[in-house]
Amino acid sequence: MTPYSATIHTPRSVMQRSGMLDWDTQPTLYKHYPAHLFSYAIDAVPALAYIGLARSITQKVPHPTGLYHRLSPPSAGNLHPLELYVQLRGFEGVISGIYHIDVYRHRLVLLAEVGAVGLEAHLGIEGRIEGVLWVLSSVPFRSVWKYGQRAWRYLYLDAGHQWGAITAACATQNQSVTILSEVDTRAVGVVMGLGDQERVEMVGYSGHITDKSVAPFSRPLIEVAPTDYIDRTTMREFNTMAHTPPVIASLAPLAPLDNLSQLIVARRSARSFGASMVDEARLAWLVERMRSFDSSVTSHIITDKEGKITMAQLCLGQGWMAKASAIWVQTAPVCDETMLSCASYAVHCVMLEALSRGIVSSGIGAFYDHELQKFLGTQEEILYVSVWGAP
Ligand SMILES: Cc1cc2nc3c(=O)[nH]c(=O)nc-3n(C[C@H](O)[C@H](O)[C@H](O)COP(=O)(O)O)c2cc1C
Repeated sequence: MTPYSATIHTPRSVMQRSGMLDWDTQPTLYKHYPAHLFSYAIDAVPALAYIGLARSITQKVPHPTGLYHRLSPPSAGNLHPLELYVQLRGFEGVISGIYHIDVYRHRLVLLAEVGAVGLEAHLGIEGRIEGVLWVLSSVPFRSVWKYGQRAWRYLYLDAGHQWGAITAACATQNQSVTILSEVDTRAVGVVMGLGDQERVEMVGYSGHITDKSVAPFSRPLIEVAPTDYIDRTTMREFNTMAHTPPVIASLAPLAPLDNLSQLIVARRSARSFGASMVDEARLAWLVERMRSFDSSVTSHIITDKEGKITMAQLCLGQGWMAKASAIWVQTAPVCDETMLSCASYAVHCVMLEALSRGIVSSGIGAFYDHELQKFLGTQEEILYVSVWGAP
């Protein structure tokens, strides 16, 4: 059985899984390295501030159990099963090293200094990278805890959004990100001291490769658990599905945007739409952008009233979706880790571009797969649904 077929939602499977979730048992969202490690407050070093935009808390909402946080990238169920690390070289006044982005404290925590030794040597790169090396890891249990096997999809959809958020952060500095597709992610995880509950998923860099030689680390960095607890029985079941990190050769760039930093901070998932529809000119732009962003993904765009009502039903009865101006469904012959992250990367970029035109949106990961395929009249597997409209 493929991970796609193992994670199908049917009306029956959804009914069997639904019930009261005990939020008191939610594993922690944030990984913390020990406080004795040296760290920079991200906003205290102007040259590093844009790195924080890639993954930071952008909204704190009062909640009976404390403050509810939302981050710069969206996440299915707001569970954020990802962690982000950077290797920095060539930032004036900043120690060259490997850092963990401690999202909760908004700090860069130094895990190891780099110089003649560096992560490049574990990535098959012969020269030192001047700039930022981005390492994205996943902590599946944060999502598996709530979603079970279906978390496989959400994890890779979240990863694509996170890569979009990294791309956007770099674009504020007029920099692009090169994704590295031939990486032994398992070996990188070992040297970074990631334990068996955290895995490297995607690696890339913004900056340039120099001809200065670089040697590998002779021992792994320190290991810290990424959540306060895990349930090994649940994780064993999840891990019976073969899953491999995405292999992406290249990704389309984000269009140049004014006020990009503000857009990154302002991005929020829409929870409802206003009474009016997005006007014709902007809708035409949106539909064209959806269709042309990534030709490896098939786009189905629903704008008619009846179609949107049906879509809302097929997305587990999320009735508010029917008020969208457009619903974008992305499909591919095979739904795998690569295609899931390509789909959500595209959605993330178009989300920011649309927001600059006053269009709000949300990803939708919950849908009845077979019924949706039938509605679209496609044999292709469903990657992602997203909704777009006027605030
Ligand atoms: C992969 C994915 C699937 C999502 N699925 C749904 C969904 O089915 N319904 C919904 O209302 N929101 C959905 N969302 C939106 C999340 O609930 C939202 O990102 C999260 O609550 C954090 O809020 P924020 O995006 O405003 O930061 C999804 C988001 C992602 C990334």
